[in-house]
Amino acid sequence: MRVPADPIKTKGTSFAMPAASNNAPEIKLQVQGLAKLYGQTIALDHVDLDVRKGELLTLLGPSGSGKTTLLQLICGLQEPTSGTVIIDHKDQTHAPVNKRDIGVVFQNYALFPHMTVAENVGFALKMRSLPKAEINAKVAKALETVGLAHASERSPSQLSGGQQQRVALARCLVYDPAIILMDEPLGALDAKLREVMQIEIKRIHRETGATIIFVTHDQQEALALSDRICLMNNGKIAQLGTPRQMYDEPQNLFVADFIGVSSIVRGMVKAGALDTAIGTLPIAGEAPADGTKGALVIRPEAIRLGEGFCEGRVRETVYGGSELRVIIDAGKQEIIARAPAQAGDIDVGSTVRFGWAPEAARFLVDQG
Ligand SMILES: Nc1ncnc2c1ncn2[C@@H]1O[C@H](COP(=O)(O)OP(=O)(O)OP(=O)(O)O)[C@@H](O)[C@H]1O
Ligand SMILES: [Mg+2]
Repeated sequence: MRVPADPIKTKGTSFAMPAASNNAPEIKLQVQGLAKLYGQTIALDHVDLDVRKGELLTLLGPSGSGKTTLLQLICGLQEPTSGTVIIDHKDQTHAPVNKRDIGVVFQNYALFPHMTVAENVGFALKMRSLPKAEINAKVAKALETVGLAHASERSPSQLSGGQQQRVALARCLVYDPAIILMDEPLGALDAKLREVMQIEIKRIHRETGATIIFVTHDQQEALALSDRICLMNNGKIAQLGTPRQMYDEPQNLFVADFIGVSSIVRGMVKAGALDTAIGTLPIAGEAPADGTKGALVIRPEAIRLGEGFCEGRVRETVYGGSELRVIIDAGKQEIIARAPAQAGDIDVGSTVRFGWAPEAARFLVDQG
């Protein structure tokens, strides 16, 4: 049997942090120039990141972008090739896992099958020989927080997947860690349960005031949960910002493509407009220099159907309850629009005109 990772932590002597001046957010964790090489593979490429006290930050990114590596370096399960990890203004780069005030929840939480829920949650405290009454009190509080007080005497086999995930969460909360790291904790759950647990995690975050770093590769989950999103690509940070900033103001095409749905129309700037396969399209604001390669990013809600400067053929319509997603082929260009579901059916195969207000499209330079 695999023994669950022991999230033991001891609280170091902590000095009161000076009150943050001029309303700057207090920084809990700083990662500076952090890099990790595995042989020739650059898993993490000199990342700088400040995590604010009490925020819920998600690390989002495609598979292999370095999310787990960054978490492992933060909690001390791996040694960095270079760079520093600073917690509460103290260099903790080489501090052992159990000396950092950090709790960790993984996707593959292995619960002890022969122990009750309460015993699972209290196991590591027992190993540390805490007095029984204290263990009981801490376990009861942790189970209460995750909504499983009633199930403390059950065995893990008598729990649903979501409940087991709550036990894994309680096992981390029982230490009352100042920083909680979660690596795809909801990955094994079905869509409905994921949503329930997302709301639970938000509540627990609010109630405990912990600083949470939550890893996911699901952009919807990141948008729903986060105070801020750190989007990773190839071991680097592609962009860091609030969900709204990531959606409304993507800084590059990778971010625009990864966050939310958008149509990305590539071309070359010519006389203040973008020369593309679907025509010469307006660029709002100050136009980039002629010859610049770039793309217009247009969100589905910005596209108007039935009128406009482009034409295409409806390839597919996807009913989604409150809205109808309309996928249009305009030559080799795919355009994704949406219409209110009440608008009635749009015939697949029919020709539609479409357009958008120029300022509703965002021009981004193509970095290759
Ligand atoms: N122990 C290891 N040995 C060798 N290479 C590794 C090791 N761990 C990670 N890597 C490599 O480092 C890169 C980053 O991996 P990492 O696990 O951090 O990605 P991730 O963003 O967590 O991906 P996923 O979403 O698939 O979990 C990948 O190319 C991976 O193959
Ligand atoms: Mg990972």
